[in-house]
Amino acid sequence: MNLTFRHAALVAVVFGVSLNYLILRFKAPHVEEEIIIFDENDHERSPLQISTNATLVCDSTQQYCNTPLEGVWVRTPKKTFHNPICCPWDKSDRNDELLFDLCGTENWPQSATDLEQNAAQHYTGNTSFLAQSGGHGCICHDRRNFTDDYTWMSPSLVQPFNATYTCELLGKRRVLIVGDSTGQQLASTLMNSLFHTSCVAQFRFVQSDFLLPRKKERGYNITTILDRYQDATEIVLWGVGPHVYGNFPETLQTVVPLLLERYPHLQFIYKTQQPGGCSDEPLLDMSPDEAAQEMIKRNLTWNYNYREFYDRDMFAMQYLRERSMPIFDLRMLYNRPDAHTNPFEDCLHMCIPGPLDVVADLFQQLLIDHKV
Ligand SMILES: *[C@@H]1O[C@H](CO)[C@@H](O)[C@H](O)[C@H]1NC(C)=O
Ligand SMILES: *[C@@H]1O[C@H](CO)[C@@H](O)[C@H](O)[C@H]1NC(C)=O
Ligand SMILES: *[C@@H]1O[C@H](CO)[C@@H](O)[C@H](O)[C@H]1NC(C)=O
Ligand SMILES: *[C@@H]1O[C@H](CO)[C@@H](O)[C@H](O)[C@H]1NC(C)=O
Ligand SMILES: *[C@@H]1O[C@H](CO)[C@@H](O)[C@H](O)[C@H]1NC(C)=O
Ligand SMILES: *[C@@H]1O[C@H](CO)[C@@H](O)[C@H](O)[C@H]1NC(C)=O
Repeated sequence: MNLTFRHAALVAVVFGVSLNYLILRFKAPHVEEEIIIFDENDHERSPLQISTNATLVCDSTQQYCNTPLEGVWVRTPKKTFHNPICCPWDKSDRNDELLFDLCGTENWPQSATDLEQNAAQHYTGNTSFLAQSGGHGCICHDRRNFTDDYTWMSPSLVQPFNATYTCELLGKRRVLIVGDSTGQQLASTLMNSLFHTSCVAQFRFVQSDFLLPRKKERGYNITTILDRYQDATEIVLWGVGPHVYGNFPETLQTVVPLLLERYPHLQFIYKTQQPGGCSDEPLLDMSPDEAAQEMIKRNLTWNYNYREFYDRDMFAMQYLRERSMPIFDLRMLYNRPDAHTNPFEDCLHMCIPGPLDVVADLFQQLLIDHKV
């Protein structure tokens, strides 16, 4: 068991939680572990359960199974974000408050022309300017009054995020992030969490909606991208999802052998789906795996192919585990259907700053765990 009182207390202090009492009760291993937090702001007692009974969770066909993701979203009003500022190139309600000194004036990175445009996002972390988020991530403040009052705490995150430390662990290695617009939001959030560190320029995002040649590919197929950047890359964080309809496993079964055979010198990390589906409230009193089921049960996933996402995660995680590829596990986002940009237009992209902030913690942890 990695979660200690010291860790939890440290996390509480770092995240600025004002806790009168923080009681951690541990029973015997393999039995349920309960964290009880008394928050003086709430005057209410919220027992948060983390199940450590590693019963497997599976897809709807019961073929693909994985360990459940452990952790809870802890209420942390007035939290500080790793990436607190949202720079839009697409839409913001706060045009009067655009921070040109931080966000630049050139709609960067939209105007990046390093590869021919092809309507794709393609940019490198910039030490002078924050990366723009895309996915309409910046419209939430005014349009929805959205503020994120929760922080993900998990026994598998052993240390609070520290940008300098993450850079030290990364060393000189360069990271290529390949994905669609959800991957792009992730990439900008990660870059901006590392803003003002020396290593931010070691991160690059290149868009690919499908990874494989498809008629409407916005971006480039995965081999075009890797052929071009393999000599300037050590780590590849990649994912695919919302644009894929039909046979999702087939995409991975085509792409993964190709990656492993053709680019054996690169270290790949697979990113799980960023869940789709809107709700007014977060799904708090349940684990991420339960939340994924609850979203389907409540028909929050009715739109597009959102209903398939959890099954895809279950397949992908088992398939990649068998091939020893580390997973960038974003299942905690199933608890956060409240944090999408617009309940009437877009239940896929996320409000920034918001729950996607967790990607900085996850990336640091990958490095701490020597997974990359
Ligand atoms: C938890 O694990 C123990 C030991 O493996 C088992 O006996 C028990 O039934 C499990 N409990 C649940 C709720 O799955
Ligand atoms: C950072 O962004 C600015 C503004 O677009 C650009 O002029 C500059 O070349 C960028 N620097 C790097 C290192 O990419
Ligand atoms: C946001 O909050 C303000 C102040 O409480 C309120 O006047 C406004 O109508 C709210 N906007 C939306 C879109 O809910
Ligand atoms: C962050 O990491 C750096 C480098 O390891 C260290 O010097 C610094 O003390 C850390 N900061 C905090 C707040 O832990
Ligand atoms: C990607 O596109 C290039 C150029 O069109 C093509 O040669 C290559 O075979 C494609 N890659 C895959 C994996 O299909
Ligand atoms: C789910 O919600 C959509 C949109 O409101 C509706 O059209 C559909 O019939 C619902 N499906 C079920 C199974 O309730």
